Amino acid sequence: MIRLILVFLTISHSYALNNGLAMTPPMGWLTWERLRCITDCEKYPNECISESLIKRTADLMVSEGYLDAGYEYLGIDDCWLEKTRDDKGRLVPDRKRFPNGMKAIADYIHSKGLKFGMYEDYGNLTCAGYPGVLGNEKIDINTFVEWEIDYLKLDGCYIDPIQMDKGYPDFGKLLNATGRSILYSCSWPAYQEEKKILPNYASIAEHCNLGRNYDDIEDSWASLTKIMAWFGDNQDRLAQHAGPGHWNDPDMLLIGNFGLSVDQAKVQMAVWAILAAPLLISTDLATIRPEFKQILLNRDIIAVNQDKLGKQGLRVGKKMGSGSRSKLEIWKRELYDGSFAMAFVSYRDDGIPYAAKFTYYDMQLPQSEFEVQDLYKEEEIRSWDGTSDFEVRINPSGVKFYKFISKKSMSEIWDITVKMMVKNQVCN
Ligand code: GLA
Repeated sequence: MIRLILVFLTISHSYALNNGLAMTPPMGWLTWERLRCITDCEKYPNECISESLIKRTADLMVSEGYLDAGYEYLGIDDCWLEKTRDDKGRLVPDRKRFPNGMKAIADYIHSKGLKFGMYEDYGNLTCAGYPGVLGNEKIDINTFVEWEIDYLKLDGCYIDPIQMDKGYPDFGKLLNATGRSILYSCSWPAYQEEKKILPNYASIAEHCNLGRNYDDIEDSWASLTKIMAWFGDNQDRLAQHAGPGHWNDPDMLLIGNFGLSVDQAKVQMAVWAILAAPLLISTDLATIRPEFKQILLNRDIIAVNQDKLGKQGLRVGKKMGSGSRSKLEIWKRELYDGSFAMAFVSYRDDGIPYAAKFTYYDMQLPQSEFEVQDLYKEEEIRSWDGTSDFEVRINPSGVKFYKFISKKSMSEIWDITVKMMVKNQVCN
């Protein structure tokens, strides 16, 4: 009973898009972050946006264990189109780079047990200047259904963000009306946030499976931490709208590329798990280094990301030393089984791994005894009695990512948590 009350109390305030998709955050691979708009296949045969790239990636997603780990969507981002529509007004994939058309790509992807993701833009043009859907919504949706796509990222360049409040829901309704299950990823909030228009997140959650919230991620620690800071600073208005069927989207994973060290890559994987973010790899799976691959395939961390309670985690604490470079953050996510995923992120860059101590209060944990598992398996499992300080030693620009499992019974934890929540409600 207590558990039912808790589920009721913690349930998201939004109503999910009723297409039954994305009950946990989508996982897959997407071209943009690593491959952008590379279209010269003669100069860059392994990197250009083309049939051969997609087929090669599909093969690797299966043979290298990514599909088994849950990465099921294979998506083409911008730069797949011819610059003009055909004489019937239909979108045409680039004839040289996709010589067999998109249905052939879909068939190949589906034959591997994967799902097919596509990109378009709600405005007149895509961000890279290819034809957008505006004015051709119905014909384009029919084309996508003919091609048997499973996922659509609808970008928001070349359109007034004010129009999005109506335009994105309308487009989503047309998509739903086709009867084909197509995951709907909306860039709607990102363009409104950019223009300082407060997005209606309840409506976004109602109409979209994903809402891209903020800046494009770039291949650097600076870009990653800027996005993390924005999500932490705005979590009160974002997190309540995430839940099964509708998630916030801090953008693609950089892991495996040029800009992040192994420790920094671990930070992204941990924080994206806490944020219940889509896990969209964007790297060359043929050349990825094993230490990055291991991070992407870490099953314990994927399990946190995919946790069925579907509650987006929060940045619950910040500690500043002298100067912003010695900043440390605690990110926490409550999980279905009553345990907690806790990421301790260090922004230090002065050489050694530093140790820091935290109380249960700092970590906003219920007072209990815990078994603590290191999700990156760098440390042995330890016990923590909940009364002494919990000590963590973190590499520079790195993370320690733990699962805290209470030794109290589930019902005792729920009891404590409900009491805390009721107390908070009374105090508020
Ligand atoms: C925008 C989006 C990116 C990517 C590019 C493609 O910038 O935010 O994620 O899709 O367009 O042009």
